Amino acid sequence: DVDKSELFTPEIREAIDAHIAKYPPEWQQSAVMPALSILQDANGGWLTTELMDDLAAYLDMPSVSVYEVATFYGMYDLEPQGRHKVCVCNSISCLLNGSEELIEHVEHKYGVKVGETTADGRFTLKEVECLGACRDAPAVLLDKVYHEKLTPESLDRLIDGLE
Ligand code: FES
Repeated sequence: DVDKSELFTPEIREAIDAHIAKYPPEWQQSAVMPALSILQDANGGWLTTELMDDLAAYLDMPSVSVYEVATFYGMYDLEPQGRHKVCVCNSISCLLNGSEELIEHVEHKYGVKVGETTADGRFTLKEVECLGACRDAPAVLLDKVYHEKLTPESLDRLIDGLE
């Protein structure tokens, strides 16, 4: 049996175990991505090294493999985040349809650069790879909700609605 860290509350273990149960025992490491998402959500939107180490132990895999997954995929963050995440797609369809303009607009209006959090902690501005919504570019993932065909004005309305 793997030691279970104090950071793994019973609720979190249960949620991770539900993903592990979807795979045969020798494939339990397949749960690493959903498990990282669960831990990130429980930790205010970002992953600490300690959390990743604990997850590695829990899934009986090398820590470095967990770090690799967490750094490869844009949905994981390894630094503290704002209360919300505004993720603007910067892949080709969105670029051709104004995503740069969206980013510049947010940077100027809210005084924040890509990768930074607003001074009031309201949101972190991120650039992400294709969100799979290319037909309705430019696309933005706001927390976990997709928004498409955005203009600076419609993006403003979304941001203004954030607490
Ligand atoms: Fe932006 Fe695909 S290029 S959603």
